[in-house]
Amino acid sequence: MIGLRRGLVKGARIAALGVYVPERVLTNDELSRTLDTSDEWIASRTGIRERRIARADQASSDLAVEAARRALAAGGLAAHDIDLVIVATITPDMFFPATASIVADKIGATRAGAFDLEAGCTGFIYGLAAATAFVSAGIYHNILVIGAEVLSRSLDWEDRRTCVLFGDGAGAVVVTASDNGGIFSFDLGNDGSGAEHLSLPAGGSRLPATHETVDRHEHFMHMLGSEVYKFATRVIVESCEKVLADAEVTVADVDLFVPHQANIRIIEAAAKRLGFKSDQVFHNLDHYGNTSCASIPLCLAEAVAGGRLKKGDTLLMAGFGAGLTWGSCLTEWDL
Ligand code: UT7
Repeated sequence: MIGLRRGLVKGARIAALGVYVPERVLTNDELSRTLDTSDEWIASRTGIRERRIARADQASSDLAVEAARRALAAGGLAAHDIDLVIVATITPDMFFPATASIVADKIGATRAGAFDLEAGCTGFIYGLAAATAFVSAGIYHNILVIGAEVLSRSLDWEDRRTCVLFGDGAGAVVVTASDNGGIFSFDLGNDGSGAEHLSLPAGGSRLPATHETVDRHEHFMHMLGSEVYKFATRVIVESCEKVLADAEVTVADVDLFVPHQANIRIIEAAAKRLGFKSDQVFHNLDHYGNTSCASIPLCLAEAVAGGRLKKGDTLLMAGFGAGLTWGSCLTEWDL
């Protein structure tokens, strides 16, 4: 551990981690049998080779429940220890009730409040920030923050510009009160003028479901990829520079940088501009694709399992997505 200026965010740490991905693997080659695409195009433009797809009977809450149970078991916690359940998702089971309400019930977190958090693919970072605020203020002690997505249900499988990019999965952490404070600093941002670049247009109060909205494929994700690409490479850099400066930490002090997993070219461009060496940067999108709110916790679990993230390490996480939103978080890894 290097000499961080502690105390920007007092008294909160990540105390447990659990993840779940569906078993079904969908490869680029499989996609290219039904779509005008190829493994070569997808892998070279995005870094993605395969993704997981939920079973027909699995909704986001089912993936979230598995991840949450694993996090509780890993942290030696019972469901009744949880004060609040936050589910960050862009693919809730339904408009209401909140997916978090369903998850809290299924895991038996009967003492807990529950709400969903919608901040595009940045939802996990926003959830961490919200949980840290509750814990630091002394309002709650243990908060489950879950990123869970079944994006395969929101994709237009005839649209090669979007459907090849995403996958399903879930990751959960417990944010807990701590004497030291493992979480140092946050940055959350939003630019709603870019809302149209990444959206699921129909089904809400703006464009309620009609036969026409279904015929126009407006209940699926729509994205202007090049705009999101430009936005992402800019905001990741600015946001990370801000949280590092706030905590008086340099890029060289960071043991692991875990960015949202959308495109390897975005990750490499942002990491290069920030001055990271490749061994400081974690990515696993080759086998999961973009799992939106689940992407960062899925990376954390794999980094821990592979010995890339160890207790005492300085961890920088950064996300971006629909909104357009962005956010980053600097923490000492304490598991
Ligand atoms: O969580 C946040 C969400 N999203 C993102 O972060 C996405 C950010 N954007 C991106 O990652 C990239 O912009 C994409 C991967 C989406 C697209 O890559 P690109 O290098 O910007 O490609 P492009 O959109 O400029 O398309 C180049 C060509 C087009 O053909 P024409 O018009 O030049 O003939 C596309 O139609 O590639 C074509 N294309 C494909 N070809 C084969 C687009 N998708 C595919 C595909 N297979 N799957």
